[in-house]
Parts: sequence; C-alpha cells; structure tokens
Amino acid sequence: MLRRREFHVLVAFCAAIFCGLFGFVWTTRVSAQSADLPPGPIQSKVQTACMECHDARIIVQQRLSKKAWTKEVDKMIKWGAVVDPKDRDAFIDYLSLNFPPDKPPEPMPRVSAKK
Ligand code: HEC
Repeated sequence: MLRRREFHVLVAFCAAIFCGLFGFVWTTRVSAQSADLPPGPIQSKVQTACMECHDARIIVQQRLSKKAWTKEVDKMIKWGAVVDPKDRDAFIDYLSLNFPPDKPPEPMPRVSAKK
C-alpha cells in the first residue's frame, strides 16, 4: 500500500511529466505554425512592430515588388503598426529584399488531416 506522503509525491511526479509533455507538444505545434523572419539589420524591429497582430507566416508567404511592399507597410501603419518614420524605408527594403516576386513560393504547411 502507498502511504499518503508517497501518494502525494507520485501525483506531483505524474503532474510534472504531464506538464512537460504538454509543453513540448504545444511548443512544437506553435513553432511548426509560425515562421521566422530572415536575419537582417532591421529584423528585430520588424519582429516587434509586425508580430503584434499576426505571426510572421503572413509576411514570409508574400512575394511582392518594392512598390507593393511600400503599400503593404503603409497599410499596416495605417492599421496601427508602430513603425518609427525613420525605419519605414528600412522595413520596405528588408521586406522587398527577402520576399521579392521572383523568389520561389514558401512551402505551406497543410492543415487538413487528409493524407
Ligand atoms: C494593428 C495590427 C497589425 C499590425 C501591427 C501589423 N499588421 Fe499586418 N495585418 C493585420 C491584419 C488585421 C491583417 C489581415 C489579416 C488577414 O487577412 O487575416 C494583416 C495582414 C498582413 C499581410 C497580408 C496581406 C494583407 O494585406 O492582408 C501582410 C503581408 C502584413 N499584414 C504585413 C505586416 C507588416 C510588414 C507589419 C509590420 C510593419 C504588419 N503587418 C503589422 C494587422 C496588423
């Protein structure tokens, strides 16, 4: 028979394993869904300003010309993105350099469970 104390230790142990497992599954799921922004001098600012409302996937899957990125960034600023006016051009350069129309499409994870 388990004594009361041993039982408590066992429960705590199982809870810890469960949390660890859950945390692991959750992290891998989340990281499978969100893409990373490519490195660049302005990357961390783009990360801060542009991940406030959505993740990076919506950005990395775009293939836009510089003109279209300019419109896109201005639209996001109008919608509430906090971009220092000094950084606006660097944002546009970074995005149009990394996500131009001639780059092959981003591999899209399929969300449907069908094989
Ligand atoms: C205030 C919230 C907010 C911020 C901050 C924000 N966005 Fe968005 N963004 C949105 C919304 C809302 C959509 C539309 C989402 C949808 O269609 O599911 C969107 C969509 C997009 C799209 C997809 C094309 C489109 O126009 O629908 C791109 C690309 C994009 N955002 C880029 C950016 C970039 C780059 C930044 C940083 C400069 C940024 N976003 C910051 C709210 C925001």
